[in-house]
Order: sequence, then C-alpha cells, then structure tokens
Amino acid sequence: MFAGPLDESIIKRAREAGLLDLKIHQLRDYAHDRHRTVDDRPFGGGPGMLLKPEPIFEAVESLASAQARVVLLSPSGRTFDQAIAHELAKAEHLVLVSGHYEGFDERVRENLADDELSIGDYVLTNGALPVMVVIDAVTRLLPGVLGDESSAVEESFSHGLLEYPQFTRPAEFRGMKVPEVLLSGNHAAIARWRAEQARLRTSERRPDLL
Ligand SMILES: C[S@@+](CC[C@H](N)C(=O)[O-])C[C@H]1O[C@@H](n2cnc3c(N)ncnc32)[C@H](O)[C@@H]1O
Repeated sequence: MFAGPLDESIIKRAREAGLLDLKIHQLRDYAHDRHRTVDDRPFGGGPGMLLKPEPIFEAVESLASAQARVVLLSPSGRTFDQAIAHELAKAEHLVLVSGHYEGFDERVRENLADDELSIGDYVLTNGALPVMVVIDAVTRLLPGVLGDESSAVEESFSHGLLEYPQFTRPAEFRGMKVPEVLLSGNHAAIARWRAEQARLRTSERRPDLL
C-alpha cells in the first residue's frame, strides 16, 4: 500500500533530496515461526485477531534510535491535527506503528508507545492509510520540503483559522468575478481582507476553532 503514495510528488522529492529518510518495515520479518505469525485470538474471547506483542516489541526495539518517538496509529488515540503535525515535524526520528485486524495487544500501548494517534472518529481496516496521512502532513512541514516556505505558514489551521478564499486567473469566469480588492495591488488592503475572510469562514464552518 505504501509504494504509490510515498513515491509521488512532494514526498518523492523530499526523499530524493534527503530531507526525509523513510523506511517501511514488514512486521512479519520479526516473527520467528514457520508461518511468520503476527496475530492471535484475544484472551477472553471476542471477534477477530490481535497483533501479538513479541514481533512489535522486537521490531520497534531493533529500529528505534535513542531519540525515536514511537507512535501507534489507533482509533483510541488523540486526534491528529496540524498542531500535532508541527510537534512531530520537530522529532529527529519517528517510528509509526500501523495496526491491523482488531488492533494491538494492550501491552504494546502501555509499554512501547510514546504516543497514540487517531486520524478521525471512524474505523479503517488497517493503519497504512493513517500512517501515510501522518507522514504526508509532517513531511510538508520539514524545512526545505515545500518550494515556497510561506505556503505552510499561510494555510488552514496554521494560525488557528481556516484559509481565506483564493482565486487565480481569469479575473472573470462565466460572469463570476474575483473580489476587486485582490486586483487592487494594495497589499495592506489585501492582507486585511484575507484576515477578515479567514475569520468569517472559520466562524461559519468551524466555530469550534475560535
Ligand atoms: C480495524 S482497526 C482496529 C479497531 C479497534 N478494534 C478499535 O475498535 O479501536 C485496525 C487498525 O487500523 C488502524 N486504524 C483504523 N482506524 C484508524 C483511525 N481512525 N486512526 C488511526 N488508526 C486507525 C489502527 O492501526 C488499528 O489498529
């Protein structure tokens, strides 16, 4: 699942430029039986299978450096957002652990993970997409990754607000006109309009952010 999304566009360029050193590891490589088993039935019964602790502990212990921050992806985690992306972008080394089946043996949570993140209040089949969401959001905040450094500063959530409306050419399309102020060349007026629009949009769509 990882090969496509992490080999395209901005992430691909970041990897090629050495701004992001990303490695994907197969949990089954840390199982020792013939079938490379990584899951088992839950004690006490119940549906589905759980990821066993041994392969995960072994994998993380062999991969994590002293500075590594170990993050489990799980619907029970704190909800990932832009502030957490900024926090993770400062880390020297992240180990993101993707779950599968019914999730992890609780001892992984309690004794191995530094943090547990959810990408939203819904349940996916496995942690590959959540891991990629975190990688994508964090990578674009690494110094030098975005061409125009200001684009990460101006966008949604950076100042606790949604982004203001943006327009490009043509100035008029099917009778729909770009707001006059943006064509005025008056940078102070444009900045004021944008700040106002960002506040307005946030109060209409996401009052919880204010
Ligand atoms: C089917 S889910 C397990 C759900 C678990 N039984 C529960 O009720 O919380 C399998 C794996 O997908 C990943 N996953 C699913 N939804 C997720 C979400 N919203 N955020 C982060 N990871 C998620 C986690 O790694 C999880 O261990």
